[in-house]
Amino acid sequence: MATVVIIGAQWGDEGKGKIVDFLTEKCDYVVRFQGGCNAGHTVVVGNEKYILHLIPSGILHKGKKCIIGNGVVLDPLGLLKEIETLMSKGIDIDENLYIAKHCHLIMPYHIAIEEQAEKKKKIGTTKKGIGPCYTDKIARNGVRMVDLLYPEVLRSKITANLEIINFLLKNLYGANPLDEQQIFTQYIDYAEKLKKYIIDADVLINKAIESGKNILFEGAQGTLLDIDHGTYPYVTSSNTIAGGVCTGTGVSPKKIDKIIGIVKAYTTRVGEGPFPTEIKDSLGEDIRKKGGEYGATTGRPRRCGWLDLVGLKHAVRVNGFTGIAITKLDILDGIEKIKVCVGYKYRNTILEDFPKELEILQNCTPIYEELPGWKETTAGIKDYENLPKNSQKYLQFIEDSLKVKIQIISTGQKRDEIIIKESPL
Ligand code: IMP
Repeated sequence: MATVVIIGAQWGDEGKGKIVDFLTEKCDYVVRFQGGCNAGHTVVVGNEKYILHLIPSGILHKGKKCIIGNGVVLDPLGLLKEIETLMSKGIDIDENLYIAKHCHLIMPYHIAIEEQAEKKKKIGTTKKGIGPCYTDKIARNGVRMVDLLYPEVLRSKITANLEIINFLLKNLYGANPLDEQQIFTQYIDYAEKLKKYIIDADVLINKAIESGKNILFEGAQGTLLDIDHGTYPYVTSSNTIAGGVCTGTGVSPKKIDKIIGIVKAYTTRVGEGPFPTEIKDSLGEDIRKKGGEYGATTGRPRRCGWLDLVGLKHAVRVNGFTGIAITKLDILDGIEKIKVCVGYKYRNTILEDFPKELEILQNCTPIYEELPGWKETTAGIKDYENLPKNSQKYLQFIEDSLKVKIQIISTGQKRDEIIIKESPL
């Protein structure tokens, strides 16, 4: 048996969905532990493209148990839409989906307040109510999945929260207040539809581990968006790093076997915030087009840049990756010279460690090492030996710098466009 964690090593959108989908084959359970429907995990199966926001990507494999852990913030409306779409494509949800009782719910007032807050101070969020929902959780005002089973508790929480939110909406933002009865009725309806999935997820997961099952923990977003270890305040509101698995599911750190960092062969970021290696000329635009770098949840164009080893070393440190998967290598095909950031220069100082100061991140200059590109295509290659020599050198350079083995290389969108150097399972 093994427990394997999948973590984005950059600012999200590294292509985790495809690697999770691949590893699910050998797993019994797939578990989400943080984030919410701000995530958009794209998986291509045959000619069909699926974008999953809340349900673990493992659902696309027959018979795999999929769990939404307590660390996730769940929008019931988004979830029901996702269930409907998947069911219409013949995917069995009822037998395989479980939701933690103590998972927090996104409420309409979270979305309403975020909409207003973004007008005052722009983070460039997905506007799915993620931040305000985690705020309520930490402030101990949150509505949890289990509250759906107790209408009087649900009602009293909505009443108490709306008292504050409606005050803010009216008096601070000059916006329309929300209707308590309408929200209550709506959530009672969701309760009816979702109650069959609600369980003690921590018990289920730990029993599965004890009985020797293979478990995959599917991270969302990426390390540099982590609320503690990312580019604060331009981050999401959850712990996206490997440590988030333990708090977000109730599994002990002693029970985590492997942690795989997903590294896109270049870097992207969506939303506001510092991005030292961003390419601002037409090459950035070319990479965006070729890589299809548009948000899976919001459709926003992603900012594109060179690989940043300073950020990646930070990711290796805070996650403790036991292996790495490189994705989208084929997007770099045909670029004559490939830059890799090996340090930052800030004023007269050379920095090798990822800075905590926003001021430094915003104003540092990347120090680049230039590597020769390759003219041949890597798209769809399945054997490492068949990769162009310069692409192998690029991968070796990354591996040597990060001191973590590259175990998987993805060379295209389809399931079988992949090189397995060493299977993590
Ligand atoms: P939020 O998670 O909606 O609060 O957004 C906070 C920041 O995280 C914004 O910069 C978003 O663009 C970014 N973000 C949230 N989810 C994702 C994701 O799945 N991929 C990439 N960026 C994300």
